[in-house]
Amino acid sequence: MTGPEDLFRAALAARAKAYAPFSNFAVGVALRTASGAIFAGANIENQSFPEGWCAETTAIGHMIMAAKTPEDRVIVEVVVAGELSVPLTPCGGCRQRLAEFGRPDTVVHSANAEGIRASWTLAELLPAGFALDG
Ligand code: THU
Repeated sequence: MTGPEDLFRAALAARAKAYAPFSNFAVGVALRTASGAIFAGANIENQSFPEGWCAETTAIGHMIMAAKTPEDRVIVEVVVAGELSVPLTPCGGCRQRLAEFGRPDTVVHSANAEGIRASWTLAELLPAGFALDG
């Protein structure tokens, strides 16, 4: 394991809760906040396909609703877990969502059931992301 065992386990546990009957592609995400808490989420699809959302969105929602201090909503590390022949990367929209609460050096790990397969910083995943204040 070249990466955080606790986040990896939490992401796999979340993946088991995915509601993905339309794509059959279950994703689990676990994130760590600057205050040390872990929040997890899975993708939740809908028969009106565009209304489904990604695992990252669920995990961020859990984090925001539990937050009491500013550092409770700073994301410092993430594991995204799913089964692909290549490492799964967050979609473009989720990169922007993670960047809203992450830092340029926030590490995003990609995992399958066997372990972490690749790691990037948010700056690598979302260069020149949208920012209202430039
Ligand atoms: N999905 C995620 O939950 N996270 C990602 O990073 C990539 C894609 C979901 C969305 C959809 O439910 C399924 O994977 C197939 O695209």
